[in-house]
Amino acid sequence: MGTQLKIGVLVSGSGTNLQSIIDRCEDGSIPAAISCVISNNEQAFALERARSHGIPAICLRHTEFSGRAAYDAELVRVLQAHGVELVVLAGFMRIITPGFIEAFPNAIMNIHPALLPAFPGLHAQRQALDYGVKVTGCTVHFVDAGTDTGPIIMQATVPVEQEDTEETLSARIRMEEHRIFPEAIRLFAERRLKIEGRKVNRLL
Ligand code: GRF
Repeated sequence: MGTQLKIGVLVSGSGTNLQSIIDRCEDGSIPAAISCVISNNEQAFALERARSHGIPAICLRHTEFSGRAAYDAELVRVLQAHGVELVVLAGFMRIITPGFIEAFPNAIMNIHPALLPAFPGLHAQRQALDYGVKVTGCTVHFVDAGTDTGPIIMQATVPVEQEDTEETLSARIRMEEHRIFPEAIRLFAERRLKIEGRKVNRLL
């Protein structure tokens, strides 16, 4: 196995996706290591998860910066100081600026709880329920300047049941998130993802 890829994970909430990535890095399924976890929210349980696995957990409060560009410049500085090669957005509830995207070309991934391009933006599970779709799911994609518009790496489908609430549907989607997000990161770490226009092809 070659050198391990260094990952930086950005979070705002409970961090169940972060946990699935930590677990797959620790059991050796992903040839990578998490160099740091950063949150804009000091209450995020995700920070606790990182600490309990000996991963540097950093809180950068957006309220302490003059604006988005200044905040993102500090994010980039901290990520680069930790040698991060792949940035993983795992429930990071902030729009990132072009300066951030340019600092990590084709090396920022996000997970979205819907089958993009359907239901981008906030409350994707609620959007799916309100629309009445019978199938939804989750999408791992590279991040570009738009909101949830970057090239799609992997998707998984989930049925919508008649009696679903936002909570029950979210829980069913999350099970699939925890499977495909680490899988997409593994392919990246193995240098097997090739972006060609809008398509992300997989090398054998
Ligand atoms: C997930 O639903 C993910 O799709 C979205 O944010 C949520 C993060 O959940 N981007 P968690 O903090 O990983 O539990």
